[in-house]
Amino acid sequence: MQNLSEKMRDCFSQSTMMLLKKVGDISKDMGYKAYLIGGTVRDLFLRKENLDIDIVIEGDAILFGERLARELHGIIISHKRFGTCTVTTPEYIKIDFATARRETYVKPAALPTVEFSSFRDDLSRRDFTVNAMAISLNEGEFGNLIDYFDGMGDIEKKRIKALHDKSFVDDPTRILRGIRLEKRLGFTIEPHTANLIRKSIEQEIYKKVKEPRLRDEIMLVLKEKEPFHIIKRIDEFRALKIIHPYLKLHKDLGGIFTAIDEACGWYNNNSPRKRSVEKWLIYLMALFSDISHDGTMYFCNKFELKRGEKLRVISYNRQSGRILKTLNARRKILPSKIYRLLEPLSHEATLLLMAVSRSDIGKGRIMEFFHKYNGMRTAVKGDDIKALGVKNGAHFARIMEKILYKKLDGIFRTKEEELAYAKKLAKRRL
Ligand code: CTP
Repeated sequence: MQNLSEKMRDCFSQSTMMLLKKVGDISKDMGYKAYLIGGTVRDLFLRKENLDIDIVIEGDAILFGERLARELHGIIISHKRFGTCTVTTPEYIKIDFATARRETYVKPAALPTVEFSSFRDDLSRRDFTVNAMAISLNEGEFGNLIDYFDGMGDIEKKRIKALHDKSFVDDPTRILRGIRLEKRLGFTIEPHTANLIRKSIEQEIYKKVKEPRLRDEIMLVLKEKEPFHIIKRIDEFRALKIIHPYLKLHKDLGGIFTAIDEACGWYNNNSPRKRSVEKWLIYLMALFSDISHDGTMYFCNKFELKRGEKLRVISYNRQSGRILKTLNARRKILPSKIYRLLEPLSHEATLLLMAVSRSDIGKGRIMEFFHKYNGMRTAVKGDDIKALGVKNGAHFARIMEKILYKKLDGIFRTKEEELAYAKKLAKRRL
């Protein structure tokens, strides 16, 4: 039996180690058993940091979590329907607890054979061998590796292998999970598993999955470090149709994804206003750039994207061509015009425009927008306009807007100039 205590000490912080010991102590006290499982164990062997800690409890995970949270002065969020909970410690370590999946739970100490079968059952329902290893947290066996399906062997061979032939039928989201894991770890999906994936794609079993679950997997793909390689591999499996029936791999997409990384890198280093951008949405917009407006809407609605996400995707899809043409033009364009073109867009859409713009002129104008125009404010404030007798409303907004445009174009330099113009405008109906 391999003991991984030393490896655990190398990879986990001291407080995480103490916490895992505490889990073992409490589970003993409650007559339960506790095991570290899934990605955390896999990544321990790959020396990759994994801050998600998943623990399976042979016993009532919610009762267990409540006790742990009480003792640690932590916070617990429970999902009674699933028998799971998440405990967050005062040091912000987050642990997910699940009850070993089995209809009836038999107290471990009483029946050792049955005791183990419930945990083994749980592991055997999982997706891939590399994800079905566990580490015991129980007294006397703390750190012992439990590897019924030779996950270790597959890690050594660098391969992704389904635990059983029905893995993708049980849960078709595993098609995307498997491909994502393959590319993230630099492994290969072994031939039999690849055939199972192909078969389940041909049979379109993924259509039975609830859309939000598929959406979450698509998001996870786009949130990986190098999503293009995963998308390409999904395409090799002819599985892009899981995302959208008309989705095709655009031949420039690899280059565009790289350009998106560069644009976001530039934005993070240079934009004075640090509004964080959702890079996965930019990749999504790029992926959908050849899909019609209706097709994009279909995707957004089917996968229940949030309203804000939907608006961002759609705004890009509708207007990008027109805006880019103007921005790339050689003729002089006033800053206020650039501002008016880009300001209504999300930062995500603007960064995608920057990525796909082939012209340095266009890119430069977008950089100027982020750098200068977007943060520019008028010297006159709302109260100055109110003092001129203008009430809040469309006229008021229009006056502020017109002053800003003149300031962007370098016509006004002082507050007095702005105020004089405001006085003129206040008398007119705009
Ligand atoms: N799992 C599964 N089938 C799924 C999702 C998850 O069998 N469709 C199992 C796997 O054993 C996985 C564990 O649940 O390791 C935890 O899932 P999750 O946290 O989503 O994945 P990780 O493997 O931890 O991967 P990541 O590093 O992406 O978080």
